[in-house]
Amino acid sequence: MAFWTKLEAWYNDYGRTLPWRGIDNPYYIWLSEIILQQTRIEQGRDYYLRFIETFPTVADLATASEEQVLRLWQGLGYYSRARNLHAAAQYIMDECGGRFPDTYDGILRLKGVGRYTAAAIASFAYRLPHPVIDGNVYRFISRLRGIATPIATDAAYREFESLLTQLIDRERPDRFNAALMDFGALQCRPQPDCTACPFADECEALRTGRVDMLPVKAPKAKPKDRWFYYFDLRWRKEGVQYGWMHRRTDNDIWRGLFEFDLMETSQELSPDDLNTAIQHFAQEAYHLSPITFHLSPPYLHQLTHRTIHARFIQAELPQEPVSHPADGMAMTARQMNSVPVPRLIDKYLQSL
Ligand code: ADE
Repeated sequence: MAFWTKLEAWYNDYGRTLPWRGIDNPYYIWLSEIILQQTRIEQGRDYYLRFIETFPTVADLATASEEQVLRLWQGLGYYSRARNLHAAAQYIMDECGGRFPDTYDGILRLKGVGRYTAAAIASFAYRLPHPVIDGNVYRFISRLRGIATPIATDAAYREFESLLTQLIDRERPDRFNAALMDFGALQCRPQPDCTACPFADECEALRTGRVDMLPVKAPKAKPKDRWFYYFDLRWRKEGVQYGWMHRRTDNDIWRGLFEFDLMETSQELSPDDLNTAIQHFAQEAYHLSPITFHLSPPYLHQLTHRTIHARFIQAELPQEPVSHPADGMAMTARQMNSVPVPRLIDKYLQSL
């Protein structure tokens, strides 16, 4: 039986009903795809519904402030996705006359949109025959055809794209791609139940006993460690408690989000070294004499290429320091809870 006939029969029985399926609004589809880039469906669904409710059109998203967008994004991580989303909405309004691009290449020009996302939007919104290729699809197709090319390389992408472009249903590339996504996610899983698979009779990996050896993955770099020591200094003025935060501006993780003043090291500090470093920083940055502080337990945050270890240095000061590091602002606890912050800082603030 032809590939798509078989896959479509499976999709009719097991395909998922999702809020961004069966619609053709390119803006909604784009939002859903950006949210789903590094996010599980169960978590992404709520964010998607909140985004389309808060920003029903691309014009609404474009005119929102970056802070508003980041705030709505909070908890999803990988915040460059939110910043790119916002910048792309402004680009669509300013450079495309407010019309969502309707070609694969035009869609690919949007910030934050790669080949997978462009193919998903082009097929779902405009029925253009571009196959989606992600980890799930690599797994399914490499097993089915016994392909051992290391995945997630340019060579593999070209090979799988050429193969799938021949298989895609030109009438309904949207259904084809949705089925491909669901089959990789639900049936051809890392540990699959091959007895229930409609492709068992033709699967090359199953025939040759290589289901758990395919796909072949290129070796990954080990994540690097970074240690963040944050200064959560507080003082009272007219009965109200204040602290000091600034917005991250460097071309680094969490750009645009708020954080406390930071001392970063590439190694964990011993208690003695940490105490010396803290007193030095307090003196240099705030002109404080030696401070008494409490150290929070470590907070861990795993990013794709980095492991962040954070600790919070908490101190109550008798009054506002006479000097602050540049670029920050005094904030009440309430304000701290209303600005966009990294998830790790949010967890810490909630623990107080
Ligand atoms: N992952 C990425 N895009 C998706 C979509 N449209 N449906 C289900 N899972 C996805």
